[in-house]
Amino acid sequence: MARPAEPTRRRGVEAEDPAGGNQPALAPAPAEGPTELDLLVERLAAREAAPAHPVWVTPLPRQLSLDAVLKRGGGPLEVTLGLADHPLRQRQQPWGIDFGGELGHLAIVGGRRTGRSTALRTIAASLLLTHDPTAVQLYVLDRGGSLQALAGAPHVGTVAGKADPEVARRTVRLLSRLVDQRDGELRRLGLGGIDELRRSWRERGSGDGFGDVFLLIDNWGTATRAFDWIEEEVTALAGVGLSHGIHPVLSADRWGDIRPALRDRIPARLQLRPIDPADSAYDLRATRGLASTPGRTLGPGSCQIQLALPRVDGGDPAIDPDTAFRDLVKRRAHPGPPAPPVPLLPLTVPLGEMDWVEWRRRREVPLGIADADLRPVPFDLLVPDTQHLVVCGDARCGKTSFLRALLLAMTRVLSPEEVRFHLIDIRRGLLDAVPAAYLGGHAMTASAVEGVVVSLREELAQRVPPAGAGRRDLAETAARPWPRGGAGGR
Ligand SMILES: Nc1ncnc2c1ncn2[C@@H]1O[C@H](COP(=O)(O)OP(=O)(O)OP(=O)(O)O)[C@@H](O)[C@H]1O
Ligand SMILES: [Mg+2]
Repeated sequence: MARPAEPTRRRGVEAEDPAGGNQPALAPAPAEGPTELDLLVERLAAREAAPAHPVWVTPLPRQLSLDAVLKRGGGPLEVTLGLADHPLRQRQQPWGIDFGGELGHLAIVGGRRTGRSTALRTIAASLLLTHDPTAVQLYVLDRGGSLQALAGAPHVGTVAGKADPEVARRTVRLLSRLVDQRDGELRRLGLGGIDELRRSWRERGSGDGFGDVFLLIDNWGTATRAFDWIEEEVTALAGVGLSHGIHPVLSADRWGDIRPALRDRIPARLQLRPIDPADSAYDLRATRGLASTPGRTLGPGSCQIQLALPRVDGGDPAIDPDTAFRDLVKRRAHPGPPAPPVPLLPLTVPLGEMDWVEWRRRREVPLGIADADLRPVPFDLLVPDTQHLVVCGDARCGKTSFLRALLLAMTRVLSPEEVRFHLIDIRRGLLDAVPAAYLGGHAMTASAVEGVVVSLREELAQRVPPAGAGRRDLAETAARPWPRGGAGGR
């Protein structure tokens, strides 16, 4: 039996045997020593040449600390948010949004636990790290509870939680008023937009106390279900925001939660992994290819972006993300004067602090503070058309206290010749509410009521002008002063 041929150790570069046989074209190399390939590699390695350009860059990281990508000194409102993958260009680059341009409003949409709240935190963190609190203010409607930690930063005017519907309403109203105010100033000065207005402020050394204002809303769907007013107000803000320096930034579960009127006014969109790939701001193929990693999003041009975590400690695994974020807000935010707070109705309005000289001059009686503009509300009881007043409300809601305050206010503004009180007060809540000089009668028992009514009727009878009285007589009778001295209590 013939022995099988010994396998030939191939060394060097082989070429095809022109004779068509199986023999290598080169002469067999000695069995010992380096091959030609070994020598080639050795020599190339010895030369300090730049490494070859890798055809495939490494995949995007699953986690990224904001400090790894944070860029300072870009456009005035450029905000770094993550790392973008451009596989066709074989590049990964820090990525952000320039809120100063036409991408001034942003929607972040994705399924549950995809990183929407964290994206809002990262936007806030990037702004706090790179902008002065006089240049940028944040107002936050936090429906999920993830953004409360922002409250400590000087840039943050308010963080309205789920339990603060009133604060949420006032926050949006504050921004609507700011728009109106800026609008008025733009028109008065004949200017085209916020940039021109800012230039004019710089030249005049003035301003309105606000810079670029961000309204962060997490999560829009629940906000619209909780507040029937919010859709209209935020849509209006988004309509004029770009030219007025107001930037709504919302997160949502699905695009359907944002009505078209608002969606059309939001130019910048981040698409985290959606519940249904068809519900995407980008094309279906790109959306299907989106990794399920939290914080992985599609951005402009359908490129994938890993959003950074809002921390600047290099992602130290020993520190949990919440602690790292709180630390960033507390210690690393640009210092400066605090953002204007959201004005809230006070819980009490001490009458003693009213400017009574001014109220007497205006001959008006203060009622309280108005919800709309937080200014004192004058009561026009003295105007003939609104002479009567009914106070209604549930038990213990403040009806008697209101009457006491009203009586006190009237005695501060008007003299005993101008006003007289006849009180029917069975529960005696108005005891001592009126100085004796102003008191026409005070019935504190059922039987005393008749006496008060009779004396009041007698008084009114004297005011009825005689038959045939002219217009002047009528006016004089109505304005007749009360005689000095009250009737006292009964
Ligand atoms: N950019 C990111 N990088 C790494 N992990 C992230 C990123 N964003 C979010 N995560 C992680 O994913 C989880 C969910 O994040 P987050 O609460 O922001 O998501 P969400 O979409 O707001 O969730 P929910 O549906 O509860 O509102 C958290 O554990 C968070 O740490
Ligand atoms: Mg959330």
